[in-house]
Amino acid sequence: MADSSESTGEYVSHVARRLTEEEIGKMKTQNSRLVTEFRANQLEQDAKKHWDLFYKRNDTRFFKDRHWTTREFSELLGLGAQEDPKVLLEVGCGVGNFVYPLVEDGLKFKRIFACDLSPRAVELTKSHVLYDPENMRIFQTDVTTEDCFADVDCPVNAATLIFVLSSIHPDKFRRVAENLYNVLDNKGVVLVRDYGRYDMAQLRFKPGHKISENFYMRQDGTRSYYFTTEEVTKLFESAGFRTLTCDYVQRRTVNLKENIDVARIFVQGKFAIVLLAMFAVAFAEEKPAEAEKLEPVAPFPGPDAPRDKRGLLLSYSAPLTYAAHSAPLTYSSSYSSLPYAYRSFPYYYNNYYVG
Ligand SMILES: C[S@@+](CC[C@H](N)C(=O)[O-])C[C@H]1O[C@@H](n2cnc3c(N)ncnc32)[C@H](O)[C@@H]1O
Repeated sequence: MADSSESTGEYVSHVARRLTEEEIGKMKTQNSRLVTEFRANQLEQDAKKHWDLFYKRNDTRFFKDRHWTTREFSELLGLGAQEDPKVLLEVGCGVGNFVYPLVEDGLKFKRIFACDLSPRAVELTKSHVLYDPENMRIFQTDVTTEDCFADVDCPVNAATLIFVLSSIHPDKFRRVAENLYNVLDNKGVVLVRDYGRYDMAQLRFKPGHKISENFYMRQDGTRSYYFTTEEVTKLFESAGFRTLTCDYVQRRTVNLKENIDVARIFVQGKFAIVLLAMFAVAFAEEKPAEAEKLEPVAPFPGPDAPRDKRGLLLSYSAPLTYAAHSAPLTYSSSYSSLPYAYRSFPYYYNNYYVG
């Protein structure tokens, strides 16, 4: 499987892949037999059980350590600075294949939080030789629920979602993005890497596996969604983030021995909390004359008045004229110039996993 497979390199693209006629035909046959509503509901209820069984079967053997992330992610998340260590939250950590390579490669963190739905995955992550209970908190949680980050007791600088959102029901994506928004500090960043639309694994699903558009059930009861960049962007923006980058990452996996040459497509995006507080303060000075005439209100609180993450005053209702305001695009230039150092992809071709 992995050893004889070769990656032909990754490249970044802004547009979704176009299907061939044959592939369109394959996708159509998936609709000939859909997962029943009853079964789909069962899968949702039993999501934790299916992931726990997955780790019971595979232990720590399934996913490969992501040493490729060290450079790419430390640059993208600004995690490398030794003099200013950051707090990291790894969501859906599995058995720690993302977190431990970062530690192994010498990145310093003030604190690491990592969580997963599967209690077995959490235990496996804790059994790693690099597990440091002083500096790490690894806990079981369902990131689609309220208060899922109750164990996180300090502001988080960076959160990562690596092939996690795809295993969650699309109705709950928004909740996950909002939970991340709430747990991150004012300058927090989320990094997402996940399956992209028309990835080879999506095309390979046979009839009987499709739950809904672009959402499928694997043989073992785990599920997978295949994203467009627009969907991911819209999702995070609707939860209050600003998109810094979001692209398709494509590569081919070639295995001459098994006569395999397949296109893998992933979506990778980086999203930041929109920091409006400073603009809210700046604009507090400007009171349009019309608004005053139309709607006399209580004196406007000073610049030091308490505000939430979005820059909104905690105890003041603005007159209608102040309410709608779009902040200037402060983030785009500095962040989008960060380098993309795409290297070999961690997921090896595996029949079982791709359904
Ligand atoms: C494809 S695995 C990826 C694991 C890890 N991020 C990696 O890349 O090695 C998806 C992980 O998401 C976890 N997961 C699925 N639904 C979740 C939820 N609602 N809350 C927290 N974790 C979840 C699963 O238990 C599983 O470990």
